[in-house]
Amino acid sequence: MTDNFYKDIKFVKNPDDILVLVNKNNRLPSNFIPSDLVPIDPKYANEGKLVREEVKIWFEKLSNDAKNLGYKIIAISAFRDFNYQEQLYNYYAETKGQKEADLISARPGHSEHQTGLAVDVEGSNNNYNEFDKSIEFEWMKNNAHKYGFILRYPKNKEKITGFKYEPWHYRYVGKEAANIIYHKNLTLEEYHRLYLKKNRLLCFSICF
Ligand code: DAL
Ligand code: ZN
Repeated sequence: MTDNFYKDIKFVKNPDDILVLVNKNNRLPSNFIPSDLVPIDPKYANEGKLVREEVKIWFEKLSNDAKNLGYKIIAISAFRDFNYQEQLYNYYAETKGQKEADLISARPGHSEHQTGLAVDVEGSNNNYNEFDKSIEFEWMKNNAHKYGFILRYPKNKEKITGFKYEPWHYRYVGKEAANIIYHKNLTLEEYHRLYLKKNRLLCFSICF
């Protein structure tokens, strides 16, 4: 699995699909920008953080419900275009070396931040890097899926996702998929393999 990262790379055919799989083997066109980007209300995010319309609705709902319970969940990063991701990745490669950079930062075209479907969050300890030490993390662990979000890079799944554990990075996939991914303890890669590819194969054998 690991050996295959950044090899046999395919361009995703459905960059606007809520379930799109963007990872080390599936990339977006350099010029891809979602057409329905909107800013998250600054009550729930740093100024000017953009996501797709559906993500805004559900993230604001999540953050507001959390706020009513006394928690603070703020989006500190959201949509990033190809050029910005390139700068970020190059910064990590220059400061930490390419091997480490590849474990913590996606190469340009390979980041799901470019889909407008991902958010990085910070809790009341004001340190996204230590989000899992905040009281909000526990709440997110039990509730994010109810709003359509999944923890995209879980612990012990690095060989599948290709990235180190990121307690702060949540990906919107919609409630139905999030529910399955959460209850079956899957990554988005596994969900695609088990639920989407298989169904397509099944359809090929019985639908034609
Ligand atoms: N840190 C995540 C993997 C990204 O760069 O998209
Ligand atoms: Zn992220």
